[in-house]
Amino acid sequence: MSRKKIALIGGGQIGGVLAQLIAQKQLGDVVMFDVVEDMPQGKTLDIAEASRIDGFDVKVTGTNDYKDIAGSDIIIITAGLPRKPGMSRDDLLTTNAKIMKAVAEGVKANAPNAIVIIISNPLDAMVTLFKKVTGFPSSRVFGQAGILDSSRFSTFIAWELGISVKDVNAMVLGGHGDTMVPIIRYANVNGIPVMEQLERKYGDKTKANEVMNAMVSRTKMAGGEVVKLLKTGSAFYSPAAAAVTMAKSVIYDEKRVLPVCAFLNGEFGVNGYYLGVPAVVGATGVEKVVEFSLNEEEQGLLDNSKNAVKKLIGDMERLGF
Ligand code: APR
Repeated sequence: MSRKKIALIGGGQIGGVLAQLIAQKQLGDVVMFDVVEDMPQGKTLDIAEASRIDGFDVKVTGTNDYKDIAGSDIIIITAGLPRKPGMSRDDLLTTNAKIMKAVAEGVKANAPNAIVIIISNPLDAMVTLFKKVTGFPSSRVFGQAGILDSSRFSTFIAWELGISVKDVNAMVLGGHGDTMVPIIRYANVNGIPVMEQLERKYGDKTKANEVMNAMVSRTKMAGGEVVKLLKTGSAFYSPAAAAVTMAKSVIYDEKRVLPVCAFLNGEFGVNGYYLGVPAVVGATGVEKVVEFSLNEEEQGLLDNSKNAVKKLIGDMERLGF
């Protein structure tokens, strides 16, 4: 197997961590593209110079020229502004849609066969726009949000129960915004329902529900919590780690079942929109959406989330994208 080529479009906070993680894991050669002159060259030079210390040996280079992404197998896009305190992801729509359109054109012209993972916000709209501009098949265009939202939810559960986060499985579906849908019913610790553990801990169903609802709320607002603390940008370690998990599943054809922002053709009752759902991620990208029965409440929440995404897409279209 020849070494994969992975292009990063956007060499900011997330782009930098992506380059470092990909190099350390030796997933492939990295090309970091950014519009800021010299910055991607400088950042990647710094990472390359850590290779002897860290013991990795892949090429890590920076560029301001789209031609250098030619032949990329995987592209991860973080181009766009991050949030400032008090902003919602949707507030980034106008600025980031402009950037995403330019990025999509650059990718289409130079790496038309790549599998593309998008991180830029507002995520569901950015993925939709990229797909529209490139016309790439939806299996090759998907977004990162669910792995991170699920990891945040799992982390809060682990802290609450005083157990290792490695044994927590909890999934968050829906759009990457305030309407995201944590699936409480299936949240478990090595198969044991989290709700049962909370009821045992507190000896009381009402209190257990209260504690779970607080964790759900914190999960929904978790990105904003980080923004508020950082003041100058948004989360970058965790989104990078999540996208690397997706890229790795593609590179090694792992067929992991990951919550990703995928295009739906009727699955979960949603037709023609991108939304966070569990999907098999393998060598060809999103290979299959994994459907399961939602109860009435969960379906209602997912429909609500879909409507929020639909509104955002409508707003984007009215802006001329
Ligand atoms: N093409 C390529 N890169 C661009 C373009 C463009 N047209 N416009 C801006 N960029 C670059 C910026 O120069 C910057 O280096 O995108 C990078 C974004 O990096 P940061 O500002 O550090 O933002 P980051 O924290 O990495 O987040 C990027 O991901 O999670 C989302 O909401 C977040 O939309 C944001 C994106």
